[in-house]
Amino acid sequence: MEKGQATGNDSLTVTDNRTGKSYDVEITDGTVRAMDFRQIKVNEDDFGLMTYDPGFTNTASCRSNITYIDGENGILEHRGIPIEQLAENSSFLEVAYLLLYGHLPNQKELDDWIYEVTHHTYVHENIKDFMDGFRHDADPTGMLLASVGALSTFYPEARDVNDEFQRHVSAVRLIAKMPTLAAFAYRHSLGLPYVYPDNELSYTGNFLSMLFKMAEPRFEPDPRIEKALDVLFILHADHEQNCSAAAVRVVASAINDPFTSVAAGVAGLYGPSHGGANVAVLKMLQRIGSTDNIPDFLEGVKQGEERLMGFGHRVYKNYDPRARIIRSHVDEVLEATNKESPLLDIAIELEKRALDDEYFTSRKLYPNVDYWSGIIYEAMGIPTGAFTVMFAIGRTPGWTAQWLELMNDEEFRIARPRQIYTGSHDVDYVPVNER
Ligand code: ACO
Repeated sequence: MEKGQATGNDSLTVTDNRTGKSYDVEITDGTVRAMDFRQIKVNEDDFGLMTYDPGFTNTASCRSNITYIDGENGILEHRGIPIEQLAENSSFLEVAYLLLYGHLPNQKELDDWIYEVTHHTYVHENIKDFMDGFRHDADPTGMLLASVGALSTFYPEARDVNDEFQRHVSAVRLIAKMPTLAAFAYRHSLGLPYVYPDNELSYTGNFLSMLFKMAEPRFEPDPRIEKALDVLFILHADHEQNCSAAAVRVVASAINDPFTSVAAGVAGLYGPSHGGANVAVLKMLQRIGSTDNIPDFLEGVKQGEERLMGFGHRVYKNYDPRARIIRSHVDEVLEATNKESPLLDIAIELEKRALDDEYFTSRKLYPNVDYWSGIIYEAMGIPTGAFTVMFAIGRTPGWTAQWLELMNDEEFRIARPRQIYTGSHDVDYVPVNER
């Protein structure tokens, strides 16, 4: 056994068959420290053993007490509170406070928090000029990504990341201004004038007003749509160390302010494998076209010709709890918008058949949150091009909470993965005229 290493039951003994030496490595919280393997060498000059984990599928990159997911049992909790209870009883802004500050606010804290967020919804007028610089058909998510990053230039004091006040006010600004930026991006893509925030409305009511208000003196949101959108934002508020949250933490680890770091989160979300699945679900339902075509479609999926979009999840091997919650709001939204959704009938029948099918059940493939969110957004009149900005608004408190937690982490270090170099060595430079 090597010097000074862990002993007892909470340890792992590994034998290096190259040298015959054994090492004891401590197990804490079901993990071993990758750096403990560095001592395993074939000789003094050896760099030491590294771990290889493309996509970080089995690597814990931090300790976190924000969000808990048990994918096998379909459990999602924020600060220990089940998502079902939050969706039922809380509001998006209260959940945002919970994620950021670790506890549910008392009445005064909640009132102050809502007041603060409501009074930071306006953006600097130059942001409008900035937005106007985009092409008429610019993707709203790309515009959001750029404008969130640009906020760091409007609030350079946010770079003082150790200042408690700056941390707090940056979090407020991010959560408050994200809907404004998202709505401006949406209006720009339609060639419509921007609508300024209305402080008399709720967070989601104001967002709907900034999206849809036309000539009327005051936009009056339908409370059912307001509520459904609030629930959707709650359901997207955080999801621990996914691609975008990891991007936020990596960028923040270079001691970047929250605006710059959260822009990295929006960039992560921009990818179709992360934020774009609900668009793919809508396209799939449109392509299926009628419930009569479902058996053929499912047969094609089983033959491996395509995937059943909105089904399956890297972490959930059970019904995504968020999908169950949002499903319960679909009918209400359709009723409020007075819309028929031919896609809904297809979605209901497709889900039923897939859940009855051994191919899907044996692979633990169940609907995820994106199976239903696209149908709701479409019914609300939000174009598919803007679905990802909706996700980004919901996820902003989570990204900001991840940023804050990293800044307070005693083990804070700049993120710097290793690599296995597979290229050449000692290659001589060849002048261009000799190549
Ligand atoms: N339709 C059909 N078969 C599927 C699906 C699906 N949606 N998802 C997985 N499978 C099959 C795979 O073909 C594989 O079968 P096999 O064992 O016979 O080879 C098995 O189920 C396991 O699949 P993996 O790809 O290993 O599962 P993984 O956990 O890596 O993938 C993912 C998860 C990417 C989400 C996948 O289920 C998928 O592509 N789903 C559709 C896209 C989607 O809805 N994405 C949204 C995720 S939620 C979010 O990002 C908010």
